[in-house]
Amino acid sequence: MKISIGHAVEGDNFFGREKELKRMTESWQNKAAGIFIPGPRRIGKTSLVKEFIRRNKDQYKFVYFDLEGRYSIVELCKDLMKEIDSTFPKFIKAKGDFSEKWNKIHKMVSEIEIGKLIKVKTGELTKTLKEMTDKMEDIFAELYRENFIIAFDEFSDFLLNLKKNSPDEVKFFLEWMRRLRQQAKIRLIITGSINIIFTIEELNFPYLINDMADVEILPLEAVEIRALLTDLLKDKNITLSDEVLNFSVEKLSDGIPFYIQLFADGLGFYTGGDRHIDDLMEIRKLYERITSKSHKEFIDLHSRLKTNLPGPDYNAARKILANTCHKPMSFDDLYPYIESILPDKTAVNKLLKRLSDECYLKKEAGEYGFVSTMLADWWKNYYEYER
Ligand SMILES: Nc1ncnc2c1ncn2[C@@H]1O[C@H](COP(=O)(O)OP(=O)(O)OP(=O)(O)O)[C@@H](O)[C@H]1O
Ligand SMILES: [Mg+2]
Repeated sequence: MKISIGHAVEGDNFFGREKELKRMTESWQNKAAGIFIPGPRRIGKTSLVKEFIRRNKDQYKFVYFDLEGRYSIVELCKDLMKEIDSTFPKFIKAKGDFSEKWNKIHKMVSEIEIGKLIKVKTGELTKTLKEMTDKMEDIFAELYRENFIIAFDEFSDFLLNLKKNSPDEVKFFLEWMRRLRQQAKIRLIITGSINIIFTIEELNFPYLINDMADVEILPLEAVEIRALLTDLLKDKNITLSDEVLNFSVEKLSDGIPFYIQLFADGLGFYTGGDRHIDDLMEIRKLYERITSKSHKEFIDLHSRLKTNLPGPDYNAARKILANTCHKPMSFDDLYPYIESILPDKTAVNKLLKRLSDECYLKKEAGEYGFVSTMLADWWKNYYEYER
């Protein structure tokens, strides 16, 4: 298995997740309207979806579509058409009157874009969007015949972007998605790194998603952590003694494959590979080097707090994390550090829940601590001063 950081993995580089894949298959067999895969950043959502597609591509027609960085339904339709075209190149060209429909939407999308017809005024917005999405459905109808699945990655991100346009556009989009799900042959897979349920509840439309089955991504168990790490290290021709492997598994006990990959990559880099490591002192030093190096993936976990949280929550979150990376703390231990920023205890509680949903923290025996030991140690090295 190749070490791979950053990109989603599939095929020979995809490890485990049999339970999740089985649940996805069962959901289809039970004719669920769709499935959603909630999960924090870097847990392995995209990999799971791509692997599912790879294993089932003979039975269904799939389009995988990443919604990140898209801000309107018009933009979505335009890019989705491009995606369909590149996923099924022959399909579009082979159909005579179908390509006519196809060209019509193309024309419509550019007209809307050029004329900026989409105004954030209820009536006008809805009418134009309705016309366009109806036309999109004509296209999907051609694809349904073959059991068509659209996988929308980063769904909650997109909803929040739409909300910046107008709440009407969010509602319109969710209603459209629901209409699509009611077609017997179309299925949706949606994933979101910002908690999907939380987002939809905040937007006040939970009823527009409650017909979908959720698939939770579980942490890897100790035996799996061991197996994945050993497998990844084979690629660098590195073996570990039992004692060294136990030390490593303990540091990686959160069971998030991403951290295991990062650790394996660090061992490969700092030792140069082709090694048997059996000295505890050496592995401790290597671990320290890995957690004191600046990783863009970790920096991203810090900077996204700023993007996703309002000012006072952001400042309070930094204090909470800079404290809990040292040791788990209870609500009462934490509160004095953030009281001046966020005096309302309900708001503090909500923030702690959010940090738990996003997998920074977990609550155990009444205390909040980091989910990942590796991330906690890295956080200590970089953001201790924010205490
Ligand atoms: N099943 C797996 N087997 C091996 N490695 C994995 C697996 N799933 C995830 N990873 C590791 O975690 C990284 C992130 O995976 P992925 O991109 O699928 O997560 P994500 O939840 O979609 O992340 P993001 O929130 O950034 O979109 C991968 O680059 C890989 O290093
Ligand atoms: Mg992803």
